[in-house]
Amino acid sequence: MLSKSSRRQWLKSSLLLAAGAAAAPLSSLAAPTRRYRAIRTIEEDLVIPPMMPELRARLLANENPFGPSQSAKDAVMATIARGNRYPMDEGENLLSMVAAKEQVPQGQILLGPGSTQLLDMAALGIVGNGVVLTADPSYLSLIETVEENGGSSKRIRLTADHAHDLEAMEAAIDDSISMVYICNPNNPTGTITESNALRAFCSRVSERVPVFVDEAYLDFMPNAMSHSMVDLVREGKNVIVSRTFSKVYGLAGMRIGYLVAQEATIQPLSLMNHVQWDISAVSIAAAQATMQDEAFLADCIKKNQESKDFLYAMLKEDGYDFLPSSTNFVLFPIRMRTQPFREAMFAQGVGIRTFDLHRQPYCRVSMGTMEEMEIFRDAFRKVVG
Ligand SMILES: Cc1ncc(COP(=O)(O)O)c(C=O)c1O
Repeated sequence: MLSKSSRRQWLKSSLLLAAGAAAAPLSSLAAPTRRYRAIRTIEEDLVIPPMMPELRARLLANENPFGPSQSAKDAVMATIARGNRYPMDEGENLLSMVAAKEQVPQGQILLGPGSTQLLDMAALGIVGNGVVLTADPSYLSLIETVEENGGSSKRIRLTADHAHDLEAMEAAIDDSISMVYICNPNNPTGTITESNALRAFCSRVSERVPVFVDEAYLDFMPNAMSHSMVDLVREGKNVIVSRTFSKVYGLAGMRIGYLVAQEATIQPLSLMNHVQWDISAVSIAAAQATMQDEAFLADCIKKNQESKDFLYAMLKEDGYDFLPSSTNFVLFPIRMRTQPFREAMFAQGVGIRTFDLHRQPYCRVSMGTMEEMEIFRDAFRKVVG
């Protein structure tokens, strides 16, 4: 393992490379193409009508409508004055805060500008042209990167109660599988796979193949850290956990996330590009401030629950089923085809996402402010009649 000072030295020399002070070429694996594709995936699904009014309620990307925190805004303003300097010490400080939070050595953390880029790096660096085993439906970012770069996926349908079918997934592992990808809580269903069962699965399966657990929405669960798979990393297991500041932290636009994994996994990924140095000083400052702002985080979780309760009550009143959600979005079956429904909602100024899952059309709505939830309710009632 790199000592703190040699790691610091390594980070600084990475920074100098990124700054162009050395002649070595930068890796082209930084996946800028993937960034564009991530945006395109959403557009494909949206089919924006030509005369779409400004969105009155933006409930399509599972963002936090209550962020950023005041503490993050203050930290950003204070940091701008140092915007002419590379964020060497700032990056190191954030790394140490994240390592302390996750109770792992710094060498087991890889920071990045959003977790999407880290998912891409795992797709390219770990799966390559191999096969990733995942659930159906689940979050497709990493899966699509694999498929677009010569690999493929094997997808195992969720159980009837929308959990990962761990038994079927384990039975599906053979020599062709390069990595297992689990999203818990899952997107787009918002549902959870019970954490003790998942921990036992990850512990066993990671003896055979690396297991990637995407915990983007974990913070919305009560006692969130008790459901994390990071303890398996601490035990030395071949498990990779991704986290993001885009959801409960309210910093989606600041682009910041991280991986927790064995150093033997982190090290080659970090050499694929200078991802750690793609995080701006202001994003780092915002992340640090929000990590310490427990009151803000608790308030967001409370308001998120209030918005969910409002939506649940409304759907019950209107005779719609829904999947009880452990996240900041809710998936529910609709009785219209997805495209006309989506277009009609957009025409009302309400951005949502739609999915066709096993031939059933669904709406996925992100939690907004109470005002946005009321706008959603009124638009929904108008659209479905
Ligand atoms: C499950 C999951 N993982 C990862 C991400 C990517 O988050 P970011 O790149 O903003 O960290 C998202 C975004 O919606 C997500 O839903």
